[in-house]
Amino acid sequence: MVINNSVALITGGAGGIGEVTAKALAAAGAKVVICDCVQDQIDRVVSEIKGAGGEAIGVYGSVTSEEDQSRFVSEAINAFGKLNIMIPFAGIIRDGTVVTPDKETGKVSKKLSFDSWKSVIDVNLTGTFLAIRESVEAMVNGGWDGIVFAISSIGKEGQVGQINYSSTKIAVAYMPKILVGEFMLRRIKNIRSVGIAPGFVATSILKGMNQEALAGILKDVHLGRLIEPEEIARLIMHCIENDAINGTTFEITGGLCYSKARAK
Ligand SMILES: NC(=O)c1ccc[n+]([C@@H]2O[C@H](COP(=O)([O-])OP(=O)(O)OC[C@H]3O[C@@H](n4cnc5c(N)ncnc54)[C@H](O)[C@@H]3O)[C@@H](O)[C@H]2O)c1
Repeated sequence: MVINNSVALITGGAGGIGEVTAKALAAAGAKVVICDCVQDQIDRVVSEIKGAGGEAIGVYGSVTSEEDQSRFVSEAINAFGKLNIMIPFAGIIRDGTVVTPDKETGKVSKKLSFDSWKSVIDVNLTGTFLAIRESVEAMVNGGWDGIVFAISSIGKEGQVGQINYSSTKIAVAYMPKILVGEFMLRRIKNIRSVGIAPGFVATSILKGMNQEALAGILKDVHLGRLIEPEEIARLIMHCIENDAINGTTFEITGGLCYSKARAK
C-alpha cells in the first residue's frame, strides 16, 4: 500500500509511539486522525503536524467506549473521505503481583486490585478489538485498501508483575492471524492485518514501571539501550508498504535475551 494520500487513524496518537508514528506517516503524505483521551495533547500533536505541512485532525474520546470508537472512524471518513490504516496505540499499564504477603507475618497484605485488572483489559484488549472492528467494517463497506494493526508487546511472553498487561498482549498478538483467517472465510480481499510486539521503548509508559526491574531488563537487551519510538514507526511504515506482510506479529526488541524478570 502507498502511504502518500492514505488515511490513517491512530488511537493513542497524542503521545508516545502513537504520536511519533502519526508524525512519520503525515511526513510521508498520509492524512492522520489522532484519537486520544487527552485533549491538550491532541491539540498539540495536530498543530505540530499541520505546522510541518501535514494534514491531521484530532478526535477526543476513550478507546474503552464503543460509541467513541465508532465516532473515531466516522470523523475520519467525514474529514478525509476514506480510511486505509488503523493503528491502536492506546495502551496502559497498572503493575503489581497478584498477591503480596507481608514480610513479617507471611499473610497477604496486598492484592492486585480489580480496577488495576479491568482498566488494563478495557483499554488494551477491548480497546484494540473495538478499533479493529469499527475500522474493518468501514474498510469493507468503503471497498478501500486497508491494513489494521494490533500492538502487542514483548510482555506477551509473560512479564512478572504484569498479569493484566501480559494477558492483553498475548491475546492481541493472536489477533492478526485470526483476522486474516476470517478475511479468507468471508472473502474479504482488501484488508491486511499485522501485529507489532515491541520490546522496551523510550516513552512515558515506562515511567510507571518498577525502575529497578527496568534497569535489570536492559542488561539483557543485546542492543544495550531502549528502542526509540522512531524505530517502531519505521517498522510500521515498512509493514504498510509491503503487501506480502500479513497475518503475523513482529517482535522488535533490540535482541531481548534471557531476563530474570520474565517467566520461561
Ligand atoms: N513503551 C514501551 O516500551 C512499549 C513496549 C511494548 C508495547 N508498547 C505498547 O505500545 C502502545 C503505546 O505505548 P506508549 O509507550 O507509546 O504509551 P504512552 O503512555 O506514551 O502513550 C499512550 C497514549 O494512549 C493514550 N490513551 C491511554 N488510554 C486511552 C484511552 N482509554 N483512550 C484513548 N487514548 C488513550 C494516552 O493518552 C497516550 O497518548 C501501548 O499499547 C503499549 O502497551 C509499549
